[in-house]
Amino acid sequence: MSTEHKKHYIVQPGGKLQGELRVPGDKSISHRSIMLGSLAEGVTHVSGFLEGEDALATLAAFRAMGVQIDGPKDGKVTIHGVGMHGLKVADKDIYLGNSGTSTRLLSGLLAGQNFATTLTGDKSLSGRPMRRVTDPLATMGAEIDSDDGKLPLTIKAGKQLTGITYTLPMASAQVKSSILLAGMYAKGKTTVIEPAPTRDHTERMLMGMGYAVEVNGDTISIEGGGKLTATSIDVPADISSATFFMVGAAIAEGSDITLTHVGINPTRIGVINILKLMGADITLSNEGITGGEPVADIRVRYAPLKGIQIPEDQVPLAIDEFPALFIAAACAEGTTILTGAEELRVKESDRIQAMADGLQILGIDAQPTADGIIITGGIIGSGEVESHDDHRIAMSFAIAGLQAGGTIQINDCANVATSFPDFVGLATKAGLAIDEFDV
Ligand code: S3P
Repeated sequence: MSTEHKKHYIVQPGGKLQGELRVPGDKSISHRSIMLGSLAEGVTHVSGFLEGEDALATLAAFRAMGVQIDGPKDGKVTIHGVGMHGLKVADKDIYLGNSGTSTRLLSGLLAGQNFATTLTGDKSLSGRPMRRVTDPLATMGAEIDSDDGKLPLTIKAGKQLTGITYTLPMASAQVKSSILLAGMYAKGKTTVIEPAPTRDHTERMLMGMGYAVEVNGDTISIEGGGKLTATSIDVPADISSATFFMVGAAIAEGSDITLTHVGINPTRIGVINILKLMGADITLSNEGITGGEPVADIRVRYAPLKGIQIPEDQVPLAIDEFPALFIAAACAEGTTILTGAEELRVKESDRIQAMADGLQILGIDAQPTADGIIITGGIIGSGEVESHDDHRIAMSFAIAGLQAGGTIQINDCANVATSFPDFVGLATKAGLAIDEFDV
């Protein structure tokens, strides 16, 4: 996969972002469409599917477990559901590349199957914490072997699961979803209590496919033994991918860009809220609902930004957007302070350290803290920064080029393909002077 060859970006300074564009489909919803579509009775038609490596890893996993899946072609996927008990043992270990969502959600879903499966991944994924799912799943009765809480995970066959009530120790949609998916196979009721709201795509899609989920404030419950009914799923554009263009337009004078048909689920719009607090000019239009998920066109016009103390209640709602928001902070007047975001240290890379290191190389005062960062706005210079094989770090430094004093080289950008296959093409179309080269 992406670790086999290396790709670097070179971004020339200056430019502005203009026009109308649609970024690829939402990664979280794309994963869930394959998982739930596979377990449904009937044929599920998906459009707007993200043809990125992470979602394709989930797709390949279900194909390996005997599900007939046609496509993807132009974002269209047809899933011939096998029902709740129709998955079959894969003939080898399932490799999930860079994808934490695939791994954690599949762990829960596989805990309820009558066959064993081993999940493996790339170097980054193999370093990420899995006890956050294996511990609660074990309490439900699952038996999962791991390498000291890391991949590979072997989920044993045929364990009778029992519903639990579990208070999440961290705000994590992956952990919540993993437990709820296991809960579909458990005896009785499974209840998850969240410390703060996290993306609720699993709950919405379950309900959209006829599986009752009870949501009461911070408490989400599901009864075992239900079934899913096939449906059509229109995947909105990913607000996490739109973020790079939103921040780019917010920092580059003369910019005026519209991102179309973007998912604006209330659990995902922290980036809009935070940018607005910083002074960004953002307007929404064409608001609607598609497949149970709110969507809108998002227009961002350049306006000077100011540093802020980021409200902690926005952190889980913008969890994947912080690398790009740090670029906004670097271009803002004054200081931006982020706290309560220790989860950023266990993403595809340690995103606090990776961004602080790169920003410092580019001449910005960025001080990492245990649970956040303090960034003082300044003049972005030129230099060579590392993405640490993290797609969002790579794309964040790319858009920094719009406000840079010289060329920025970003190393190891192949993993951009995990979430945003044609980033370079779309960014070029919008006005960023970016080139990629294989090394
Ligand atoms: C995701 C949840 C988040 C997010 C990830 C996708 C999901 O992870 O960072 O990119 O699809 O459920 P956590 O649950 O670890 O916060």
